[in-house]
Amino acid sequence: MSPMKAAVTPTYGPPDVVRIEERPIPEPKRGEVRVRVTATSVSIADARIRGFDIPKGYGLLLRLVMGWRRPRHVVQGHECTGVVDRLGKGVSGFAPGDRVMGTIGLKGGCHAEYVCLPAERVFSVPDSLSATQAAGFFFGGLTAAGFLIDKAHLARGETLLINGATGAVGIAALQIARHIGARITAVGRRDNHALARELGAQTCLDYRSEPVAGTFDVIMDTAGTLPWPRARDHLAPGGRLLMVVSTLVQMLGAILRPRRAGLRLLAGEVTETPAAMARLLQLHRDGAYTPVIGQVFEFEDIVEAHRLVSTHHKQGCVVVTMPPLPEEDKP
Ligand SMILES: NC(=O)c1ccc[n+]([C@@H]2O[C@H](COP(=O)([O-])OP(=O)(O)OC[C@H]3O[C@@H](n4cnc5c(N)ncnc54)[C@H](OP(=O)(O)O)[C@@H]3O)[C@@H](O)[C@H]2O)c1
Repeated sequence: MSPMKAAVTPTYGPPDVVRIEERPIPEPKRGEVRVRVTATSVSIADARIRGFDIPKGYGLLLRLVMGWRRPRHVVQGHECTGVVDRLGKGVSGFAPGDRVMGTIGLKGGCHAEYVCLPAERVFSVPDSLSATQAAGFFFGGLTAAGFLIDKAHLARGETLLINGATGAVGIAALQIARHIGARITAVGRRDNHALARELGAQTCLDYRSEPVAGTFDVIMDTAGTLPWPRARDHLAPGGRLLMVVSTLVQMLGAILRPRRAGLRLLAGEVTETPAAMARLLQLHRDGAYTPVIGQVFEFEDIVEAHRLVSTHHKQGCVVVTMPPLPEEDKP
């Protein structure tokens, strides 16, 4: 078998540090499934790692974890869809050729023609999802569900403000909150208001000209522009502020003083457990969540995908499709 193509990030830097190289096809270890990738997302996490564009205060810690001068894992991409190609020892329930989707977490590796994923993080693709929707299914959805359901316990009839409502996380949050029965105000540029209304927002504000007014039971800040000092006056009694993106100081503040004047600050990472992935698929089957794919690039244009994601103004998910297998490599 010829080597595979993979997009590598040899050093931290702007989008054009990413280049496509040939690399050996990975062998699945025990408990892993090797997937021939057909499409993968370029998420804000991929762009942040590539550019070492991380919230203030985390620099030292994340250089130690991710690599000092360059990413330790040079192939990025944390979710994908494709077909099962080979099974590692001890894996059952899948067969070569099955259409699957899954995540590998921040270790990355999905921006390549082949990736080995832990079997418990691999799921069959429902017929209701296209290949591009399956490629961008998990990142925004898991984050939105983790914050709204597990951290905020959003309830029917509550009011919710989503600051940054039409990125990958915001779009998932709109749909999940509508399913729960919340009354939603979406904040974003006017061009995105039609989409926000279609997905569940009753009211829309353009952050460039319309300040937030009134109070809400839950404020979800996906943009990092509504920190506690600005948000507290807009929280109703018992209100919760969800800091999806936070500086180290804000994060420590949320851990050390999570309750302030009867209000709650919630921050932190959402963990991508297999149970959370299965729940998100159930939400999809219940009609509560389908990712919106804002733009699709071919693999050879992955630098352009990184460029768009790094603007912080993309709509929904950005997906990259892989070239078809050469005839001689087809099973
Ligand atoms: N805590 C966690 O576990 C976790 C997990 C995943 C992601 N995240 C973080 O969540 C954030 C959002 O992720 P994403 O994938 O949704 O990003 P994204 O797709 O880039 O979306 C960014 C959103 O922010 C909005 N925005 C930009 N500038 C704004 C401003 N000044 N005021 C209000 N809104 C503004 C954009 O709206 P317009 O386009 O209308 O400007 C867009 O809706 C990222 O920073 C990411 O690092 C955290």
